[in-house]
Amino acid sequence: MKLPDLSSLTLLTLLGCIPWLFACSSGSGQTRPASPATGSAAAQAPASGTAGTPPATPAGPQRDVHSFSHPDEVQVDHLQWTATVDFNQRKLIGRASLRITNKTGADRLWLDTRDLDIQKVTLGSGASGNNPASPAGNTEALFTLGEPVEFLGRSLSIQIKPDTQWVHIDYSTRPEAAALQWLDPEQTASKTDPFLLTQSEAILARTWIPLQDTPGVRFTYDATVRVPAKLMAVMSAENPMKKSADGVYRFRMPQRIPSYLMALGVGNLEFRPLGPNSGVYAEPNVVEQAAWEFADTPKMIAAAEKLYGPYRWGRYDLLVLPPSFPYGGMENPRLTFVTPTVLARDRSLVSLIAHELAHSWSGNLVTNATWNDFWLNEGFTDYFERRIMESLYGKEYADMLWVLGRQDFETIVTDLGPQSPDTHLFQNLAGRDPDFGMNDIAYEKGSFFLKTIEQVVGRERFDKFLRTYFESHLFQSMDTRGFLEYLNANLLKGDEASRVQIDAWVFGPGIPANAYQPRAAAFDKVDQVLAAYKQGTAPAQLDTKGWSTQHWLHFLRNLPQPLDTQKMTDLDQAFHFTQSGNSEILNEWLLKAIANRYEPAYPALENFLTGMGRRKFLRPLYTALAKTPDGMEMALRIYRKARPGYHSVSRGTVDEILGWRG
Ligand code: BES
Ligand code: ZN
Repeated sequence: MKLPDLSSLTLLTLLGCIPWLFACSSGSGQTRPASPATGSAAAQAPASGTAGTPPATPAGPQRDVHSFSHPDEVQVDHLQWTATVDFNQRKLIGRASLRITNKTGADRLWLDTRDLDIQKVTLGSGASGNNPASPAGNTEALFTLGEPVEFLGRSLSIQIKPDTQWVHIDYSTRPEAAALQWLDPEQTASKTDPFLLTQSEAILARTWIPLQDTPGVRFTYDATVRVPAKLMAVMSAENPMKKSADGVYRFRMPQRIPSYLMALGVGNLEFRPLGPNSGVYAEPNVVEQAAWEFADTPKMIAAAEKLYGPYRWGRYDLLVLPPSFPYGGMENPRLTFVTPTVLARDRSLVSLIAHELAHSWSGNLVTNATWNDFWLNEGFTDYFERRIMESLYGKEYADMLWVLGRQDFETIVTDLGPQSPDTHLFQNLAGRDPDFGMNDIAYEKGSFFLKTIEQVVGRERFDKFLRTYFESHLFQSMDTRGFLEYLNANLLKGDEASRVQIDAWVFGPGIPANAYQPRAAAFDKVDQVLAAYKQGTAPAQLDTKGWSTQHWLHFLRNLPQPLDTQKMTDLDQAFHFTQSGNSEILNEWLLKAIANRYEPAYPALENFLTGMGRRKFLRPLYTALAKTPDGMEMALRIYRKARPGYHSVSRGTVDEILGWRG
């Protein structure tokens, strides 16, 4: 097989280090000290719901321990956002106008903020019209910023009146705002213009907009964004397709979304249609390749609709980001954000698009109520992703994804420890940063749980159940208890509940005994080749004709370990892994190279680690390096160069792995 070249991975040019501060310094506008009852959101954790036990609250959703907001009293239902994107100062300067519903006659609105500078808060009683700067907002309000809490930021409590309908907050972000990544031209594909990207999930929306930053609250939004005239702005909303003459872009998001789906991208972007309701935005020198790679997107949309009901968001577009984007993909509504590391030139990594598209149902339509219920987003989505892939490319293909997923499941359980509460589906993340507590358990244990249910009740009944589940909870949030009640009431009959073993899956550790055991016929030939290799056949003699990326991943993951330098060299000479332009294959090979001290791959390792910032690859590679003293030395040397080019969420992860103190 010819492995494509690495041209899609742009080498990041190195910038000066931007310090990333968890704790924030005192902000402006402090009018009185924080209310002691709300000094720490972690202190508001429910008494029940510890890992291993079901939440004990009899009814209603669990309180979100990662938000200072009180949506049970006052709820934000619409946001009008105006902002100027200032690349020189690395700031957003603007106004967030929040339309609220006061359910209890409360005299305060509690919001989440982190690293925001609040200049002024004004109140309005009538509708403010389309212009949030209208006179409706001329009464100044008293407001208080609470003490900073690590990773949660500061509460913003605003004194409101019984008839307050609009709250206008004039504010600016700070250069270190954790959701925002400001890229210099050299860090982009075209190298000509700067780029701004956001990543709000899980609790980073509060670093660029003052909001009720909890997935339990949904709102619609309008936005007016001013950017330098040559650039285009796109959001998780109705998007422009063309550059505006004056750099001003107006957005409308008529469907209600939770705050973690707020998203903005600004750069030298072009648009290419993929179908009547879908297309791709990317930098000019990437957009053609991206349009080719993602050409099956319209078919994926059709397959997803056929499975679980209509796509309810209007258009489905993709935005290909510069390589520092910390995730593979992010399901921002109407505009999935995608890493360029899936541009493999052979369409072999497009299951990622199926995944992000699937979130348009699981996650974006029916949303985890709190981050403890994260598996309701990701486990459902992984299951749904594999169903879309099966529809498009057949059962053989999907079976390979299930087998690779099972390997990931086993690996994460081994890594966390088979008895660890972190291997429960229902999590207790109180006092922890949800961004760092999220791992393959939600994805793999979650999807294998659903696959196990499918096996017990049969696919036909399960599909009908899922379709009805989505349709009956549109634009709502769901917690673990609510889903289990719905499952018991609407699907499981007779002894099916005991055959499924819900408690073992959701509130117990490790891999439950009844977990689905996938088999992929397509991997039989790989297993035969592995057996031949183990018996001494030289790599160059192995029959690998027609292998896809998934075959290669299975091969690499199941190679004997350790491999001496001669064996690594023979493999590399036969298959050119070190030169692979396929990020998934390269990642697997580099893990082997580190474990076996295969030095000829070290320059490629360094290029990979400095050329992209996707956490999925950074985490295992730096972890593997950190296992030995000389590996750690190399890791620190590379990280010193690469760190300024990483997004804050990737920096946070690698800082922890390497014990980085700056
Ligand atoms: N929603 C996630 C990304 C995410 C998770 C962001 C948690 C912040 C906190 C997205 O849908 C996702 O799962 N991305 C995966 C790719 C997918 C194919 C498994 C990724 O980024 O690797
Ligand atoms: Zn996902």
